[in-house]
Amino acid sequence: MRFIQLVFFSFSLLSYLFFVSCQYVPNPRLGQSSALIGTKLYFFGGSTADVSSLITPRVFANISNEVFYFDLSNSSLFNTVTPTWYKDVEMPIGSLHHTSCVNPNDSAVFIFGGRQYLPNSSNSSYYSPVYRLDHNKNSWSIPNITGFNSTFTNRTSIKAVIDITGKIFIFGGGRRSATGGDPSYYNDMNIFDITSMSWSTLVISQAPPPSYSYTATLFPSGIIVYIGGVDYISGIIPVNMSEIRTFNTTSFTWSIKSANGSSIGSRVGHSAVLNQNGDIIIYGGSENDILGPQVFPDLAVLNTNSWLWSIPNIPVSNIPQALTFHSAALYNNHMFVAFGIIASTGGALVNKDYYILDTQKYIWVTTNNSVITTQGSSKSQGSQPNKADPSSNNCNTIKPLLYLPLFFLYIYIFI
Ligand SMILES: *[C@@H]1O[C@H](CO)[C@@H](O)[C@H](O)[C@H]1NC(C)=O
Ligand SMILES: *[C@@H]1O[C@H](CO)[C@@H](O)[C@H](O)[C@H]1NC(C)=O
Ligand SMILES: *[C@@H]1O[C@H](CO)[C@@H](O)[C@H](O)[C@H]1NC(C)=O
Ligand SMILES: *[C@@H]1O[C@H](CO)[C@@H](O)[C@H](O)[C@H]1NC(C)=O
Ligand SMILES: *[C@@H]1O[C@H](CO)[C@@H](O)[C@H](O)[C@H]1NC(C)=O
Ligand SMILES: *[C@@H]1O[C@H](CO)[C@@H](O)[C@H](O)[C@H]1NC(C)=O
Ligand SMILES: *[C@@H]1O[C@H](CO)[C@@H](O)[C@H](O)[C@H]1NC(C)=O
Ligand SMILES: *[C@@H]1O[C@H](CO)[C@@H](O)[C@H](O)[C@H]1NC(C)=O
Ligand SMILES: *[C@@H]1O[C@H](CO)[C@@H](O)[C@H](O)[C@H]1NC(C)=O
Ligand SMILES: *[C@@H]1O[C@H](CO)[C@@H](O)[C@H](O)[C@H]1NC(C)=O
Ligand SMILES: *[C@@H]1O[C@H](CO)[C@@H](O)[C@H](O)[C@H]1NC(C)=O
Ligand SMILES: *[C@@H]1O[C@H](CO)[C@@H](O)[C@H](O)[C@H]1NC(C)=O
Repeated sequence: MRFIQLVFFSFSLLSYLFFVSCQYVPNPRLGQSSALIGTKLYFFGGSTADVSSLITPRVFANISNEVFYFDLSNSSLFNTVTPTWYKDVEMPIGSLHHTSCVNPNDSAVFIFGGRQYLPNSSNSSYYSPVYRLDHNKNSWSIPNITGFNSTFTNRTSIKAVIDITGKIFIFGGGRRSATGGDPSYYNDMNIFDITSMSWSTLVISQAPPPSYSYTATLFPSGIIVYIGGVDYISGIIPVNMSEIRTFNTTSFTWSIKSANGSSIGSRVGHSAVLNQNGDIIIYGGSENDILGPQVFPDLAVLNTNSWLWSIPNIPVSNIPQALTFHSAALYNNHMFVAFGIIASTGGALVNKDYYILDTQKYIWVTTNNSVITTQGSSKSQGSQPNKADPSSNNCNTIKPLLYLPLFFLYIYIFI
């Protein structure tokens, strides 16, 4: 009797745990943005479309408005490939190739530009160049901005940085024409002051040519270091990785630093983080285009004291697949790289995993290379309520109730 009791109890407990632990798992995606808020690594939007939509004529489809995060203070993230994901309030629009910034004082998130769509559709619809997520009100709003420059409307493939006084700097980018003609490209510096909610546009004569899909890294000295991307001068020209563009946010002046050392391939769609030694670590990217070939090396380090590039010596057996149009963030000594296209597949596979690089020892802590195409993947669309509750996932609140009768049955039979 005791044995059967035990078996039955174990069975109920296991099925309870199995069903209750069904939690939110984000779809593979590309072109999302990410931001670190305290210990939470947030992700915004991106495209969950399959490969067919990326081939010419390029239709960007299934543009996500999802907002989700995982908590980096949970040390089990370093040992598992199935982290606990948490959903937060969805954006009013689906968006990809946008950029995000966080006000360090109140954790408000600002999303700029990108290609905006009705959520989960390929209907291109334009709503606002700026959205703000207020964590206290748990909602997105469109800030009222003075001096907004309308040429920033529909600006895409940009990277924003925010300084300690709340000024956000956004360089250049591309923009589709309203009539569907060729895109326009820019080399202006747009500055948005979140304290006064005012916008200004600097047109600087010694600025680099119009550029997009670069990375931007702000140093405590007030210098922004721009790496990679492509210039547009009556055609696409890859930015030379040995000629690093920097912008002084005090004097509003551009300079070029010549970086020697290892030879680093030009790229778009890569990511960059600033580590605690003051080195910029770049990862991934592709040549010229979202479907361009993989670039070499995947991982490179720019020492901004000596302006020398180096390639960390990582055992070949210990590297994840190269990604492009992914996102990255630094947390303590660890670089978290997530989602994006598997660059070596030329856009055929979209990634669902994250990888962690120890930026002191230069070893990948997680190396799970499993990939998945979104094609044919089962999606739980429709069954997931649009929840605005950041602290819970979709299953936990309902499923335990379903299992209550089972426990009562157990109690009725055996006690
Ligand atoms: C968009 O998502 C739907 C539903 O999951 C799927 O059937 C469709 O194939 C996807 N479209 C593209 C272009 O990925
Ligand atoms: C930490 O992550 C593990 C594995 O995903 C999960 O089971 C656990 O609930 C998480 N802990 C917290 C406090 O989120
Ligand atoms: C897409 O836009 C067209 C034209 O504006 C509209 O008729 C259609 O209902 C939209 N589709 C969705 C899914 O919103
Ligand atoms: C912007 O201004 C309008 C009109 O004054 C107001 O209705 C709206 O609530 C304001 N939006 C925000 C986010 O403050
Ligand atoms: C954040 O707070 C600091 C200290 O009070 C202040 O100097 C800074 O201007 C604030 N930044 C923003 C964006 O409000
Ligand atoms: C922005 O893009 C949308 C979608 O393509 C287009 O309908 C709209 O006219 C564009 N707006 C401007 C100001 O270019
Ligand atoms: C707005 O931006 C455009 C493109 O950079 C620039 O030519 C123009 O001078 C700007 N207008 C203002 C008022 O700053
Ligand atoms: C990049 O710039 C370096 C130094 O200015 C130069 O030696 C090299 O040839 C350039 N590479 C390309 C591909 O233009
Ligand atoms: C940036 O420009 C300011 C004003 O000209 C200057 O004082 C400062 O030294 C510059 N910063 C760097 C890091 O060169
Ligand atoms: C890199 O090499 C070029 C050409 O040899 C030289 O002019 C430049 O000063 C070097 N830069 C650094 C930071 O050493
Ligand atoms: C990699 O991840 C997949 C799915 O996320 C999992 O099935 C597989 O066991 C993992 N492999 C390793 C070596 O952890
Ligand atoms: C879009 O799709 C995701 C996942 O498939 C879903 O969670 C979300 O609720 C959908 N959003 C809308 C507005 O339909």
